[in-house]
Amino acid sequence: MADAPILVLGATGSTGRRVAARLADLGHAVRRASRRGDVRFDWTDPGTWPAALTGVERVYLMAPHELPIDPAFVGEAVARGVRRFVLLSSRGVVEMRDERLLAAERLVRGSGVGWTVLRPDWFNQNFDEGFFRPSVLAGELVVPLGEKAQTFVDADDIAAVAVAALTGDGHEGRVYEVTGPEALSFRQALAVIGEVTGRRVEYRGTADDYRAVVPAETAERQIRAWDALGDGEPTDVVARVAGREPTRFRDYVTRAWDAGAWRG
Ligand SMILES: NC(=O)c1ccc[n+]([C@@H]2O[C@H](COP(=O)([O-])OP(=O)(O)OC[C@H]3O[C@@H](n4cnc5c(N)ncnc54)[C@H](OP(=O)(O)O)[C@@H]3O)[C@@H](O)[C@H]2O)c1
Repeated sequence: MADAPILVLGATGSTGRRVAARLADLGHAVRRASRRGDVRFDWTDPGTWPAALTGVERVYLMAPHELPIDPAFVGEAVARGVRRFVLLSSRGVVEMRDERLLAAERLVRGSGVGWTVLRPDWFNQNFDEGFFRPSVLAGELVVPLGEKAQTFVDADDIAAVAVAALTGDGHEGRVYEVTGPEALSFRQALAVIGEVTGRRVEYRGTADDYRAVVPAETAERQIRAWDALGDGEPTDVVARVAGREPTRFRDYVTRAWDAGAWRG
């Protein structure tokens, strides 16, 4: 079944949307699935799974924030003929003991079919599409990571790596740490946003700054997890796997600004 559709979960989200668009541009048949996708797929409603999985051999597998990958879904996918999973995990899952994503990685590794795990660092698009956007607009971002270096990575580059793993050979059984080309602290990243857009965004990066704005239990859990991280080092995954130069943070900001971001 050479042109069996490739199932993209989270197809309205920041990575899934780009994975689906890239696959379609390359001429692959794509099935876009999510609660608002072309095919309705809901993790909490197994009755929606068969329509997403029928006739599919390859899956871009992602769980929305906080939700686990349901083992029953992986089992059903394999039973229905899926032969390859490309799983969106996250950089630092081992150090941070992120049980949700570590369990997802174990599931695909144990699925008995081909798998590739993507472990991207923070997405650039958090700043204009995702959960940092309100903070950028409000002029203050609180993340208890001090001056630690982050290898912010562009969602377009993550999608390019995912598409290579979904459609190419030699990626099975690989864990890819997907990063941008440089390591910046949050303070440096916000300074770039300020330089490009003229929007000044204060950075508050201590544990106490975080405790002041996040409910106690969540704050302590996150602070512990992030404390376990060191400085991030860029990898060559985007260039090596996707054959393109990874996007510099400044180029992402310029592109987003030119496209109308942060005008609200
Ligand atoms: N942001 C980061 O910096 C970062 C870094 C590393 C890893 N990650 C991981 O990336 C994942 C998030 O990926 P993303 O940013 O591509 O997604 P996203 O932009 O947060 O979008 C979530 C997607 O999941 C779908 N969705 C939400 N609830 C659903 C449900 N109950 N059933 C089915 N689909 C549902 C949404 O579409 P509908 O609303 O249409 O259902 C949407 O397409 C998380 O697991 C996170 O841990 C994030």
